[in-house]
Amino acid sequence: MPNFRISRRAALSSTAALAASAALPRFAIAQAKPLKVGLMLPYSGTFAQLGENITIAIEMYLAEKGGKLGGREIQLVKLDDESKPELGPQNADRMIKRDNVDVLIGTVHSGVQMAIHKAVTESGTLCIVPNAGAVAVTRNLCAKNVFRASFSNWQPAYGMGVALGKRGVKKAAWMTWDYAAGAESGEGFKQGFEANGGQVVQVLTLKFPETNFQPLLAQVPGLGVDAVGAFFAGGGAINFVKDYAAAGLKVPLVGSGFLTEGVLGPQGAAAEGIETALHYGDGLENPRNTSFRAAFKSRAGRDADVYAVQGYDSAQLLGIGLEAVKGNLDNEAALHKAMREARIDSPRGPISFSKSQEVVQNIYLRKASGGLNKVTGVAVENLADPGTGCKLSS
Ligand code: PHB
Repeated sequence: MPNFRISRRAALSSTAALAASAALPRFAIAQAKPLKVGLMLPYSGTFAQLGENITIAIEMYLAEKGGKLGGREIQLVKLDDESKPELGPQNADRMIKRDNVDVLIGTVHSGVQMAIHKAVTESGTLCIVPNAGAVAVTRNLCAKNVFRASFSNWQPAYGMGVALGKRGVKKAAWMTWDYAAGAESGEGFKQGFEANGGQVVQVLTLKFPETNFQPLLAQVPGLGVDAVGAFFAGGGAINFVKDYAAAGLKVPLVGSGFLTEGVLGPQGAAAEGIETALHYGDGLENPRNTSFRAAFKSRAGRDADVYAVQGYDSAQLLGIGLEAVKGNLDNEAALHKAMREARIDSPRGPISFSKSQEVVQNIYLRKASGGLNKVTGVAVENLADPGTGCKLSS
């Protein structure tokens, strides 16, 4: 039962606060209130660790800034979206209408992102996407209040396709979960690969978040391909990489970098030698990355990964916006402009934003070796998502 009794001291201090506020302009009162930032992320299921790393990195950035952005104290409100698209609309309503969040940072799963997009755009709540790559969010359904600090599903897989094609590989198959992120990564892979002389001859899928990969793996020897590209992530990626190795296939496995990101420990020897493309990797030498990794490790007790980077950059992006408007979210045009024009010193290297409010970034080639996704080169420099169908003007 909630306790509605107010102590005499609290009553006195709220009376004093009221008296004082009578003399303050409206904005000063609003500014004195903490800014509520909703974190709608998976804290359970196959993507739980992704949501946790995003959260830890956001909290880390806030701590570095003394708990304030743009002069406003930040209050975090967390909700486990369970990576379940069917719960998306009600969870978004809960955050926006019941918890009255001023800003929403979410989410990880593309299907959930699509399921909350209507509530986000209709309410106009500032939304920063810290992972989910659903392309529509920064293409045909782009919106002025929606920014993405991570990637579009198309980007990393496109980079992998380009690298593979340039190397002279001719035929490949794509394996993934049957949902937006898998299909859109597959599209990126196909475009990059086929523009460079390759051909995707088969796409094999299973339902999200299932992990019975045997029926797919059994088909590989009969496909006549020189490579298998894949999108899996989190817990599912651990199982897939292990099962792929156990199947003893001669065909090299490549992928969107999520395949081996943050999961090399449990994948063990099975991951050795797997090549992937992603907007982050191990051994990236820049001062921001070095200090970020050290701080994350001491806070989380584990190494940073791309999800941590994306959480950190989501918070950095919010910080830039709030700084520009001195914490006043009502100054929408200035807020959005500052965020669109942001140049962020990210642990992944410098990033900027496209007209559709999507990250422009390097896609690195990596090779899994001794528990690290070692950067071996740049697959595509400063890659922007095509942003097809987005009509935002800057
Ligand atoms: C997505 O659903 O968009 C998604 C999920 C996990 C990842 C990457 C993309 O690692």
